[in-house]
Amino acid sequence: ERKRMKLTIVGTGYVGLVTGACLAEVGNEVLCLDVDASKVADLRAGIMPIHEPGLEALVSRNQQAGRLRFTTDVDEAVAYATLQMIAVGTPPGENGAADLQHVVAAARQIGRRMADYKIIVDKSTVPVGTADKVGEAIAEELAGRGVQLPYAVVSNPEFLKEGAAVEDFMRPDRIVVGSDDERATQWLRALYQPFQRSHERLVLMDVRSAELTKYAANAMLATRISFMNEMANLAEALQADIEQVRRGIGADPRIGYQFLYPGVGYGGSCFPKDVRALRRTAEAHGVQLRVLEAVEAANDAQKHKLVIKLVQRLGASLRGRCIALWGLAFKPDTDDMREAPSLTVIDGLLDRGARVSAYDPTASKAARKLLGERIHYAASPMAALEGADALLIATEWKEFRSPDFDAIKRTLKRPLIIDGRNLYDPAYLRELGFVYDAIGR
Ligand code: UDX
Repeated sequence: ERKRMKLTIVGTGYVGLVTGACLAEVGNEVLCLDVDASKVADLRAGIMPIHEPGLEALVSRNQQAGRLRFTTDVDEAVAYATLQMIAVGTPPGENGAADLQHVVAAARQIGRRMADYKIIVDKSTVPVGTADKVGEAIAEELAGRGVQLPYAVVSNPEFLKEGAAVEDFMRPDRIVVGSDDERATQWLRALYQPFQRSHERLVLMDVRSAELTKYAANAMLATRISFMNEMANLAEALQADIEQVRRGIGADPRIGYQFLYPGVGYGGSCFPKDVRALRRTAEAHGVQLRVLEAVEAANDAQKHKLVIKLVQRLGASLRGRCIALWGLAFKPDTDDMREAPSLTVIDGLLDRGARVSAYDPTASKAARKLLGERIHYAASPMAALEGADALLIATEWKEFRSPDFDAIKRTLKRPLIIDGRNLYDPAYLRELGFVYDAIGR
């Protein structure tokens, strides 16, 4: 039988908390460390800092079982386990490069206190070469203390989608482990053994390749989206339908159906940040990434599409107009507003003098933090439409998929829908008497 393992996770943000809860769920003893005392107090009381399906139940179950604990005590956290996972934030710093100060600080506090062999696992999304920096920080701290202790730094990037993070962790497509230390590799192999299903999920590689794998995966996915957005723009000009084209190309298994949806541009905490960071890394090494440059430019342009289409219908000035907006979050099933395309849409509307009445099932609170009272936050999809000249859709929430079109038509001042997520059948909406603009159809 597999031995229970102990591990410390530094940082109870999105990645750290999901990782900690899921690793506890398979029987490990997990201690989560965070500098934020109020967050730790909340977590102990079962209050989640993020909205993620299944997470709350997982945290409370494992906390009750004593396998998952939260602390602010650094001494306790470092002494607790051989495995020290770093899952702190890496916000975009100067000119888009990831800011590593929290990662390096986490490494230093381990180096300052460790008394035996430690495996430091980089879980945060960090640029290639970070494991070396983490190793150097620890070496410096040890040298400062005048002690020599063995340690290894391993890269173990996460591939969690918001809204499906628990599921992604429990049933991974692959687990990437970059390690140049045989002993550390064995520990990681044991840690992830419960997640192997029909076939080997562990993809072992060297540290730098693992660090690059994370960025390459997100850059490839971002590329698919920008490619489809540009094809959609072309389809419009050619009077073709991108939805039919999507099905036609997706049937090729080399292309596949997933992640081929044109829309209002990609957003969120990963794609925009990681694409920029990878470009900065390439620049720093004198390598040109022409494709990614275009991916980013295409995405920036796509975020303006909804307002451009609206202006084509209503004229350049939107003064005196009220525009309803369905969806604020960067994607459904999350309240995350980071780099949400809706923000670009709202800026464009306000700049042209429109008032905005927005509805989102969960993200209004987060949006209010960013936008304050610059827009109106409606309590329901229908309430957002009252007095509005048009409806814009920025997020494909399920509850927007089959609305009461009669009620929409009665409520809107004119029957104009501009849909950034291709939710409806254009022929059907036209039959109902709507002016309906979508993406690439
Ligand atoms: C992403 C990756 O999927 C995940 O593997 C990685 O670890 C973190 O980044 P996430 O940011 O949660 O996850 O969102 P995801 O569902 O991938 O969507 C990203 C953005 O792309 C959203 O704005 C979404 O609307 C957009 N998108 C996605 C499209 O416009 N079209 C698509 O076909 C798919």
